Formats: sequence, C-alpha cells, structure tokens
Amino acid sequence: MKYSKYSVVIIGSGIAGLYAALKIEQQSSNLQDGILLITKAKLGESNSRYAQGGMVAVMKDNKADSTESHISDTIKAGAGLSEFNTVKFISEQSDSVVKDLLEFGVEFDRDENNELCFTREAAHSVRRILHAGGDATGKMIEKALTKDVSENENIEVYEQTAAVELLVNADKECKGVVVFNDLTKEYETIYSSAVILATGGLGQLYKYTTNPAVATGDGVALAYNAGAIMQDLEFVQFHPTALAIDGGENRFLISEAVRGEGAKLVDADGIEFMHKYHENKELAPRDVVTRSNYNEMKENNADFVYLNATCIGKEKLAERFPNISRICLENNIDISKDFIPVAPAAHYSMGGVKTNVEGQTSINGLYAIGEVASTGLHGGNRLASNSLLECVVCAYEVANFLKNKELKTPKQIDEDLKAIVDKYSKELLMEELDIESLKKELQEIMWKGAGILRDEKSLMTALEEIQQLSKKFPRSVKCLNKEEYEFKNMLTVSKLIIQSALQRKESRGAHYRLDYLNTNEESKHSLLTKEEGELSFVK
Ligand code: FAD
Ligand code: SIN
Repeated sequence: MKYSKYSVVIIGSGIAGLYAALKIEQQSSNLQDGILLITKAKLGESNSRYAQGGMVAVMKDNKADSTESHISDTIKAGAGLSEFNTVKFISEQSDSVVKDLLEFGVEFDRDENNELCFTREAAHSVRRILHAGGDATGKMIEKALTKDVSENENIEVYEQTAAVELLVNADKECKGVVVFNDLTKEYETIYSSAVILATGGLGQLYKYTTNPAVATGDGVALAYNAGAIMQDLEFVQFHPTALAIDGGENRFLISEAVRGEGAKLVDADGIEFMHKYHENKELAPRDVVTRSNYNEMKENNADFVYLNATCIGKEKLAERFPNISRICLENNIDISKDFIPVAPAAHYSMGGVKTNVEGQTSINGLYAIGEVASTGLHGGNRLASNSLLECVVCAYEVANFLKNKELKTPKQIDEDLKAIVDKYSKELLMEELDIESLKKELQEIMWKGAGILRDEKSLMTALEEIQQLSKKFPRSVKCLNKEEYEFKNMLTVSKLIIQSALQRKESRGAHYRLDYLNTNEESKHSLLTKEEGELSFVK
C-alpha cells in the first residue's frame, strides 16, 4: 500500500475544511511535511455549497446589534443546552472572521452605499445575517475559498478520495488516516501529526433531506470507531420548508430568509396557521415551525403545506432570491404569484464529535471542525445561520492552536498501527451490492422511527429494523467502493442517533419524544463513546 506523510491532513472540502487549510498555510511555520486536503467528491462539493440564507455577523460598528443580543438569541433557540462560554466566544469572533473572509475575496451583498446588507431569520431579534449572491451565500464563500486553495501551491488536494479509518494507537493518539481513492480503488496510508475532520453533516440518513449526497455522517463514524467521545447526536434539525417535490438525492431548500422577508405559511385554502403555534409565528424557532408544519400536514392528510411569498413582490423576490425563484420556476411555480409547496426535511446535525472551539477532540492529534463537531454552540436546536459562523471561527481557531505545536511526523509508521493498515492490504472477493436500495431502506427507517417525532416504540423498532438491514450488508472492514463505505458509516451513525435518542427521556429542542413531552431541567449533554465494542453513555 502507498504510504505518505504530512504535517497536517484535513478531511473535507466544505467551508470549514477549505478555510482551515488556508489559515493553517497562512499562519504556520512548522509545516515541513506540508498540508494535504482530501475530499471524497470534487473539491467544494459539500453542504456548504448549498447554504442559502447567510452567515451570522455581529459587526462591531453595527449599532443595531450586540454580542449580548446574539448570545441571548442563540441560547434561547438552543433550548437550554448551549454552552455559554462557547456561544460568547464564537459570537465575539464574528467581526474579525468576517473581515478576514473579505480579505480572502468573499463578496457579501452590499447596498447602494456599498454597506454590507443584513437580513433577518427566525428567532433572531435583529437583522444580523450577511448573505451573498442573494440566496447563494454558501456557493459564493465556497467559490472564493476553493479558488484560493486551488491556487495555493503549499496545499495538496486529493479529490474523489474517502477517509476510511483513522490511525489511533493504544495511547489514544491519532497518527494519521487510511484513505481510499474511488477512481483507482487504491488505498493509501497517510501519516500525520494532526488530522482535522471537516466532514460535515448526516442529512442523508433520512428519506427527506436538504443535504447533498456527500452528507453521510462519515466523520462521526470514523471518530466513534477510533474511540472519540460523541455529543448530543439525538439532536437532528429538520428544516420546516424544503420544496416538497422529489428531485433526486435531496430536496431543494426554501430559505428561512424568505419568511424573514415576510412570507407566510398557509394551508391549501390560503389560511395562515402559525399563530396557533407560537407568538412569533413564521419566525418562531425552527423546531417549532417544523412541528407545526408536520402537524398541519397530518391533520389535513396532506404531503405539504404552502409558503405564500407573493407579498414580497416580484422585483424584490427576483433580486433577493434569484436561485429560489429560478428553481421554483423550473418546477412550474412562479413564486411572485403561486404558493410554494413545502414540507420538513432533515437539515443539520447539532450533535457530533465532542470538541472545544479549537477543534480538539478527546483523542490527541485528532481535531473536528464545522458540522461534524459538537462544540456546544447550538444546544438542542441551532439558530439559523450560526453554522457557517461556527465553521469559520473554529477553522480559524484550530489554525491558531496548531501554529504553536510541533508538527513533526515520524518517517516510519508505528508498529502497533500496522494491524490497521494490513487489513486494507488483504485481497478479498466481494460480490456487488445494491447500495441504492439498501440506502433507501435505511432512510425510510430513520424517517419513520427517529424523525421529527419519536418515542421508545418507534426508536426500538427502527433499531431492530437496522439490525436486520445490516445482515444484507456483509462488510466488516473493506468495501468495494465509496458508496459502500458511506453506507457502512450510515448504519453506524443511525444506530448512534437512535441510542442517544432512547437515552434522552425528555423533549427538548429538535428532540421531541411523544412519550416524554416535558423538558427535564436537570438534563445535560449526552456523551457517547465506544468501549469494548459496546455503546455506553459516559455521563
Ligand atoms: P460540509 O460543507 O458539508 O463539507 C463536508 C466535506 O467533507 C465535503 O467536501 C465532503 O465531500 C467531505 N467528506 C465527507 N466525508 C468524507 C470522507 N469520508 N472522506 C473525505 N471527504 C469527506 N448554515 C448557515 O449557517 N447558513 C445557511 O444559510 C445555511 N443554509 C443551508 C442550506 C442547505 C441546503 C444546507 C444543506 C445547509 C445549510 N446550512 C446553513 C448549514 C451549513 O451549510 C453547513 O452546516 C455547513 O456548510 C457545514 O460545513 P462543513 O465545512 O462543516 O461541512
Ligand atoms: C436557510 O436559509 O433557511 C438555512 C439557514 C440555516 O440553515 O442556517
């Protein structure tokens, strides 16, 4: 098997991974062995690319806003589970990271006086969300950072290459990663003093999701298998307004910013209903709006509710939401005249690999940033547009942390890690599997049993069904292709979500249990780790 060594390896090319690569390259003088960024699809293909609404920016010269206000909104939305110090730190860094992104060539939308434009989204008290390209914020940031990474000769990039196992020794030190090139089907052992997971989310575990095909929870599975601590995995955010038209691997998002600009949720007769559920109506926290839509759909035996954006006006809709307008029109919906059919879809994972704001995990040398990490910012329910902010702040901070570390990678692989590597050198005869249909079965199980509403019975049924499904997937270590590796990870992460959801016997934020409707004020984060092959709660 091929062997190589780098000072730093970053896994994932969303906004967290790209920005971390650039900041590490910019700041560190200890990179004798270079930086490698690996990504399992094309550079930049990620959840980040599809982010619409924007990025929170509490700018020091914006008199209408303050970090206190942003902290308070984040904590309120987080249903009592956000970590105050984390929220404060990330909020306070937003001014400097926005300025840094501008230096890297990111072009946020500006008004006629060349001032940055701010929009509003649900549960934010003020307009504090920067956007770019109207409703193409993620694409615009990702495009600028991808260009910088591609042009930077100190950052090597492997595309179409998936991380399949972390090299963690008995002393809980991460020394590198085994990767699989999906084009050549070759494995490579990459040795490194610092491995950064920036592998994004897990929306593809669910039948309906806004996430693209790459969001299969790989980072959570890799870190869990390596013995890292997981946090709050039961908290999966379902976005209330995905376009209720099936078009391939995911559902197109109708941004919350459309409601921020005045759109209303209505039933088939055009009657508004959000006043029945929350005083802030369409701008109530995301979990509340999701359950309201879900309830209306159930009561009316319908597959969707509608979003009425006509009040925003044709001109403003075209200018502010050019992509949403275009995609809807391609589906014969003129959003300046027609109602938009919308329904909830899995959108974001609040839980993940437990880290601090510098990305440190419970394993030395292993870092996690962005959606794969759980820093404690989001608590039980993420406030809109806080994710992109967290991605860039934590990428910035991991770079800061690493610049003071000695990043010398030994020439030879440790003896005790050879056993991991050897597993991938063995030739095995493997028959082809119909991964597409296995994946659909799993997504159906998760949607039904561990979705927007859950209880012990639904969760236990889902767990049993997944055990049965696993029997149709006879792979323990090596797989035939990237899709099989993804499915292996999806099975692992689905079970972890269910285990965590079963343990949390309360309703809080996005975790809504029909058999435990109340919030238990005493409860804290759920922490999950792999001990001797068993799932167990460590706290
Ligand atoms: P991602 O952007 O998901 O990138 C993960 C990367 O890791 C990808 O390149 C993937 O290919 C790679 N990868 C995964 N597994 C492996 C592996 N095993 N080996 C190698 N590579 C791997 N948040 C906001 O704050 N504001 C918004 O307006 C907003 N809108 C959104 C709209 C949509 C439709 C979606 C889906 C999400 C939105 N979010 C928004 C959430 C936000 O976009 C994501 O949380 C954030 O972009 C995650 O960034 P990331 O860099 O952590 O991961
Ligand atoms: C949206 O634009 O509605 C998504 C915002 C987010 O997920 O933060």
